[in-house]
Amino acid sequence: MTAVDKAKLLDEIEDRIRTIGVLTSGGDAPGMNAAIRAVVRTALARGLKVRGIRRGYHGLLKEEIIDLTARDVSDTIQRGGTILQTARCQSMRTEEGQQKAAAICKKYGIDGLVVIGGDGSFAGAQKLANLGVNTIGIPGTIDLDIACTDYTIGFDTAVNTAMEAIDKVRDTSTSHERCSIIEVMGRDAGYLALWCGIANGAEKILMPEEKDFNEQELIDDILENKKRGKKNYIIINAEGIGDSINMAKRIEEATGIETRATILGHMQRGGSPTCKDRVYASTMGAMAVDLLCQGKSNRVVGYKKGQYVDFDIEEALAMKKTIPEYQYEISKVLAI
Ligand code: ADP
Ligand code: F6P
Repeated sequence: MTAVDKAKLLDEIEDRIRTIGVLTSGGDAPGMNAAIRAVVRTALARGLKVRGIRRGYHGLLKEEIIDLTARDVSDTIQRGGTILQTARCQSMRTEEGQQKAAAICKKYGIDGLVVIGGDGSFAGAQKLANLGVNTIGIPGTIDLDIACTDYTIGFDTAVNTAMEAIDKVRDTSTSHERCSIIEVMGRDAGYLALWCGIANGAEKILMPEEKDFNEQELIDDILENKKRGKKNYIIINAEGIGDSINMAKRIEEATGIETRATILGHMQRGGSPTCKDRVYASTMGAMAVDLLCQGKSNRVVGYKKGQYVDFDIEEALAMKKTIPEYQYEISKVLAI
């Protein structure tokens, strides 16, 4: 691109977008800081001003808005959590809240807004787009439960954190020849459970998507497993199924095999992001800014079939995601 073309492009961008806002919303996820950093630095490189909105839509409604410079995001790419903080916000679900949020964006000159979060956060971004604020969503959740994308920020880190923790539980479980139930996150989605189930060689994976769970069959299988000469029985239980502590008591009573429950909890959401999370989140952050510069709005960035793509938010929210049946089936075969 010649210097003249570049100057022309910058003029065109200036005509459309002058200031970009960025916020994180819903549950935090490792890699969100890499996305924020990429949004800030790409926008600055394109000659735009950047405003950070603290505490998601809650902070937007409270006007918790700060200017961000390239130095404000220094030394953040390797940090878990989100430097902008995150929140859930009931008012944003109301028409009044949405109107107020759009008015605040206008007041602060935010003509392009990047929203890093899950489907709920994208629904908020869609409402703002309808009210004249250009919005782009970036998928951020450890649950991997966003249908328009094969990748979400934080899943890779969370699944590796959980896998390492489960390996440790397995060591002690084998030593004591116990049954262990390990509860991983995922209120509505079993991807963490499925991936850990395969990666940790679990005997049983319980996910909210599989409705046919029968505890008696599980108990029978634990007894069969012992007859097959196995030294332990690992159950990965998604949070959405829950009740791990009581389930452990019932299993111990029915099988006579000592059973312990471990709930991994929020430790899965923290920690330094993996290389994959840093690189994908950085790419998506830069892409969100470039989409805004191209005059696009009401879009969400995704990664599908090896490509970075973008979808209309409404189209993205209408997509359905299911648990990959083949992987679930082989997880059972591999546990014999
Ligand atoms: P996630 O973004 O991870 O799916 P939530 O479902 O908790 O997390 O949504 C995050 C926030 O997005 C909510 O607290 C709310 O402020 C906003 N939000 C969710 N659903 C809607 C909606 N239908 N309309 C407007 N805003 C919404
Ligand atoms: O961010 C997703 C998630 O970690 C789910 O797996 C879990 O069900 C939920 O958030 C827990 O959220 P909270 O932060 O409210 O405990």
